[in-house]
Amino acid sequence: MLKLHDVHAGYGAIEVLKNLTLEVQAGEIVALLGANGAGKSTTLLTIAGVVPVRSGMITWQGAPLPTGKADVVLRQGICLCPEGRHIFPRLTVLENLISGSLLLPANRNAAKLEEIFHYFPLLAERRKQLGGTLSGGEQQMLAIGRAMMGEPKLLMLDEPSLGLAPQIVSRIFEIIRLINQKGVPILLVEQNAQQALRIAHRGYVIVTGKNQLTGTGAELLASDEVRQAYLGE
Ligand SMILES: Nc1ncnc2c1ncn2[C@@H]1O[C@H](COP(=O)(O)OP(=O)(O)OP(=O)(O)O)[C@@H](O)[C@H]1O
Ligand SMILES: [Mg+2]
Repeated sequence: MLKLHDVHAGYGAIEVLKNLTLEVQAGEIVALLGANGAGKSTTLLTIAGVVPVRSGMITWQGAPLPTGKADVVLRQGICLCPEGRHIFPRLTVLENLISGSLLLPANRNAAKLEEIFHYFPLLAERRKQLGGTLSGGEQQMLAIGRAMMGEPKLLMLDEPSLGLAPQIVSRIFEIIRLINQKGVPILLVEQNAQQALRIAHRGYVIVTGKNQLTGTGAELLASDEVRQAYLGE
């Protein structure tokens, strides 16, 4: 579905991604792992069209994906749930959710809201509460819910478990798996390598913007390199 072919990208004089190659196939959860500063968020921002591709190519459903055009990428159904959530603090939960579907016909909102409230009953209870007054875990649920409102054909999640209590982390991973089982492919960036690899079909480890390792979730979980570098063993 999505393929990055030898992608280079960066900011000003800094080249962050150097020859990065990865793909996400229909139905997959793909984990993207790497140390702080390895270029994980940059990878997602480059796919999302926020950061332009300098050389190499991204293809989506077999055709080149325009680079550096976030609106075009979003209209193709590729949706990024960014690191740090970035919900609208002064809008209510409901307004935040609706903001995720502004590009789609409004008559589908009711059914989508029902689906999201099914995943996150807590958001239904708090639909009139201001986004900025939600707890960290609730804000993460809202950010994922908002991305789901856009009916993504590919959902990219950047560190959804960051800063959350273990119980909420487990719930978030469970919901990621459920969303995927409904047919949405997911590209998942995580520091929490163990939990991410447990739900991922495949994964990539990147080091300073380059491919280091790839394999199935189970292979990477068992690899000495991953265990030492990311699982603290
Ligand atoms: N807007 C920017 N301008 C300049 N450099 C940037 C910018 N954003 C990121 N970088 C640099 O690019 C490199 C990769 O950053 P990136 O955010 O992609 O890493 P990451 O793998 O997501 O790290 P983390 O695990 O800390 O989130 C870092 O060295 C960072 O300082
Ligand atoms: Mg990051």
